Amino acid sequence: MHSYPYTITISSEKGGVGKTTLATNLAIYLKAMREDLPVTLFSFDNHFTIDKMFELQKRTENSPDIHALLMGQEASTVVQTGQYGVGFIRSSTELGDIHERFKGPMTLTRMLSESGISGIVIIDTRPDLNILTQNALYAADRVLIPVKDLPSLENCKNIFALFDQSGIDKKSLSLIPCLIDSRIKFDGIFRDQKTLLRAIAVNRGYRCLDTYISKSPKVESLNTNPDGKIYPILTHARGTEVHSQFMEISRDILRGLDATTETRACLYHTWLLEKEDSKKKQYVARLEGLTERCLICGGILAEHQADRNFYFETSDRVARGFLHGECVSTMLCSALYGLPEDDDTFAAAKALVRDKILRSVSLIFPTKQDTESILDYRQYSLAGAQLLQKNLDMPGFDGGVFNGIHDRLYLFLNEALAGYEGALREGGWISIYPVNPENPEVILQEESYKIIRRLQKQIAELLNQ
Ligand SMILES: Nc1ncnc2c1ncn2[C@@H]1O[C@H](COP(=O)(O)OP(=O)(O)O)[C@@H](O)[C@H]1O
Ligand SMILES: [Mg+2]
Ligand SMILES: [Zn+2]
Repeated sequence: MHSYPYTITISSEKGGVGKTTLATNLAIYLKAMREDLPVTLFSFDNHFTIDKMFELQKRTENSPDIHALLMGQEASTVVQTGQYGVGFIRSSTELGDIHERFKGPMTLTRMLSESGISGIVIIDTRPDLNILTQNALYAADRVLIPVKDLPSLENCKNIFALFDQSGIDKKSLSLIPCLIDSRIKFDGIFRDQKTLLRAIAVNRGYRCLDTYISKSPKVESLNTNPDGKIYPILTHARGTEVHSQFMEISRDILRGLDATTETRACLYHTWLLEKEDSKKKQYVARLEGLTERCLICGGILAEHQADRNFYFETSDRVARGFLHGECVSTMLCSALYGLPEDDDTFAAAKALVRDKILRSVSLIFPTKQDTESILDYRQYSLAGAQLLQKNLDMPGFDGGVFNGIHDRLYLFLNEALAGYEGALREGGWISIYPVNPENPEVILQEESYKIIRRLQKQIAELLNQ
C-alpha cells in the first residue's frame, strides 16, 4: 500500500523566534517517544543546522540534498537516516533558482504524496513567505507558528491571510509562544509574556497551543561549545522546563497524528487520481459516440484509418466523428468556388482550400436569406479569431435537388443535421477540426478537447447574437 506522510511545517516571517530549534528538537522527541514512527526532517533555510545535528557522515560532493528533491529526484534516494534515528535531507544554498519549478502552491504536496515517505515529515522554513514557504504551508497537516513578542505576533497575520485567499481551512494553524522569559512580569490580568501573547492571539481568532517554550540559558548554550556541535535538548537539557514543554508539544502532535485518518498528502493524491480517472472516463465516453462512417462519402472509417484528417461535431453534439481529408477538401472546394470536379482548375483550387482548412476550424451553418437557403461558411483560428466569412448559395437544396456540384455538402448536411420530416434541425451548425491522421483520437483527450469546447461555446454565442 502506498504511504503518505503527516506533515508539520514550522513557519514564521520573523527570524530568531526558535523555528529551527523547534523543528530539530521536535523530530528527536517524536522519534524518542515513538520509536517505530519514521520521522523525516528538512529545511528550506541555508544555515545547515539540520546537517550539523543529524549527519553521521560528512557531506561529499554528490550527497543528494533538498535541492535534488525539489528538482524531482526520488525521495528514497535523498532522505538519509541520521543521529537519533531521525531521517533528514541535507540543506542547500541553491534554492534560489527553484522558483521556476514552483509556480503553483501545491507542487510540494504532490511531491510528498508521491514520495512514499511515511510517518511524520517536519519542514523548517525560511523567515519569509516565498513560494517554497507557501508550498510548505499548503502541504502541512499542522503548521506551528512560533511567536516570541508582539512584532512576531503581528507578522503571522500574513500566513492567515494567505490561507484565507486560497480558501484553505485555517484549523491546521496554531501559534506557540516561544522564548518566553518567565522573569518578565506585568501588573494587571496579563501577568506575564505568554498570557499576554495568548490573549492577543485568541482575540484575533488565532489558535494557540496550550504549551509554550521558555527561554532557557541552558538551551541557548547547546549550540555554543568547543566541538562546534549542536546538542539536542532531550540529551543535554533534561533538567530544564523546556524539556517538559517539548514532551508536551510532542504528545499534542502525536494525538493529532493519531486522530488523522487521511493526511493532506493522501487527500491530494486521491483527488489527483479521481481527476485522472474522470478524465479517462470522459475520454472513453467521447470515443463511444463517434460515427462509424465518413458522413460525406458514407465510407467506413475503419477501412482507411490513415485518411481520417478531420473531426466534426454538430452544435447539439448529436453527430460527431471523423471525416476523410479528401472528402472535406472536395466538398468545401466545390461549395466555395461552385466548381464541378472535372473543371481544369479544380485540383489547384482544392489544394488551396485544403491548405487553409488544415490550419483552421471550419464552420458550416445552413440558414435562410429571405426564403432562400444559404450556407454561412466561416473559418476560425484555434484561438477563436474569425479568418473568413462567406455566404454561399445552395441551389436546389430545399427541393431536395442535387446538382453535381453541391452533392457532397447536401448529403453531409442531411446526414449530420437531419431532424424530423426531412427538415434540418433548426439553428444547427457543424464545426470541422483538422486532426493528426496518425492519431486522430488525441483531439478527444482532455487537453485538446478543451479547445474544441471553448470554440463551440464562442461560436454558439456569436451565432445567437
Ligand atoms: N528555548 C530557548 N531558550 C533560549 N534560547 C533559545 C531557545 N530556543 C532557541 N533559542 C536560541 O535562539 C536563537 C534563534 O533560534 P532559532 O531556532 O535559530 O530561530 P529561527 O529558526 O526562528 O531563526 C538561537 O540562537 C537559539 O539557540
Ligand atoms: Mg531557522
Ligand atoms: Zn469520406
